[in-house]
Amino acid sequence: MTDPTTPSIEPGRVDLVGAGPGDPGLLTLHAADALRQAEVLLHDRLIPEAILDMANPEAERVYVGKARARHHYRQDALNELMVARAREGRYVVRLKGGDPFVFGRGGEEAAALAAEGIPVRVIPGITAAGGCAAYAGIPLTHRDHAYRCQFVTAHRREGGTELDWAALVRPQQTVVVYMGLHGLERVCHEMVAAGAPATMPAALVEHGTLETQRVVTGTLGGLPARAEGLELQSPAVLIVGEVVNLQSTLGPAAVDAGEKPGE
Ligand SMILES: C[S@@+](CC[C@H](N)C(=O)[O-])C[C@H]1O[C@@H](n2cnc3c(N)ncnc32)[C@H](O)[C@@H]1O
Repeated sequence: MTDPTTPSIEPGRVDLVGAGPGDPGLLTLHAADALRQAEVLLHDRLIPEAILDMANPEAERVYVGKARARHHYRQDALNELMVARAREGRYVVRLKGGDPFVFGRGGEEAAALAAEGIPVRVIPGITAAGGCAAYAGIPLTHRDHAYRCQFVTAHRREGGTELDWAALVRPQQTVVVYMGLHGLERVCHEMVAAGAPATMPAALVEHGTLETQRVVTGTLGGLPARAEGLELQSPAVLIVGEVVNLQSTLGPAAVDAGEKPGE
């Protein structure tokens, strides 16, 4: 039987590895091991240098990052590159921010590799929602405030289905919106239009888990204007729900520029 703590890494395979949200301390042991052994490292835009520095210095490194509306590497070209390098008998690490299976196209890449007969393994990572919530002091669930949590993305491919806004504004739940900075105004507007109170607490976590992390709390009604004034930058997640009220006591590193949730 295989010991799950010591994965055997045979050549000619690809591992889709989650790097977590940024703080290198949030890497899993499996991820660190994969980085040390990588012969080819294909990495995204959001991976900090401190994590890349952990990789085998001899590894071939290819930046395959995608920024919104600025695709450096087409998905099919990236899939072909992974297949080609694996067929050369090399151990390929495809390093992704957060968790490969959460808004990370990990499912598409794993399927493309499997279709070519390339052995593929997924090493999960801490997703941005979990990392940002913990470092900001916002519990995603809480018996008094939220008994469910939804992860959604504000950015969908062209022609994709519209978000189910009515489902996002149910009481006693938390909603985490990925890639939400660009669509912040629209998301807040649609949630209020669907029945959420404009006073519903909401927070933006910018550069979560990193030294540059900023947490801005407010309300669905007030956060967009506030964020504009602070010139927040990607990556950031939007967290909406009563749990945001707990941030003022649980988030020691919080930067609060004025408006209180519920105002
Ligand atoms: C393409 S998605 C990738 C998500 C990733 N697979 C995960 O599990 O976290 C990129 C989005 O994740 C969120 N994100 C990733 N890292 C973040 C961080 N350190 N702080 C805040 N948001 C982050 C942002 O919403 C960003 O636009």
